Amino acid sequence: MKKIYFVIFALIAGTFVFYMFSSSAQSSGAGDFKYVGVDKCTGACHKGESKGNQLEIWQASKHAQAYKSLQTPEADKIAQDKGFTTAAAETPECLKCHVLGKDINAFRA
Ligand code: HEC
Repeated sequence: MKKIYFVIFALIAGTFVFYMFSSSAQSSGAGDFKYVGVDKCTGACHKGESKGNQLEIWQASKHAQAYKSLQTPEADKIAQDKGFTTAAAETPECLKCHVLGKDINAFRA
């Protein structure tokens, strides 16, 4: 009778250990980041007077407009002058600095 309890315990423990290892294997590695966007990451932690108005200061800066600045005729002209045949906002060489996480696999949570 005691043997059956041991078998049940071993099965449950084994299942638990299996899931622990399989989930930790999934959540490690370079491709496991997820970009949540400014609304989420600043929602609770970086907003308001008590946080030094970090969100508000960033939003008012040009840094917050880095991608938008590629969607202008001025940006297209810069890209064209550099010999690119695509619009600035579609040119990987421009996007790599003007967009967060370019070329990083950030789709797995
Ligand atoms: C190595 C990183 C990097 C690359 C690559 C890059 N940029 Fe920029 N870009 C910047 C930085 C940093 C600024 C801000 C410079 C400043 O304000 O002094 C900027 C500013 C700009 C601005 C002015 C924005 C504004 O409102 O003042 C435009 C337009 C622009 N970049 C277009 C481009 C285009 C088009 C390409 C591709 C041909 C490109 N950038 C590639 C980093 C980069």
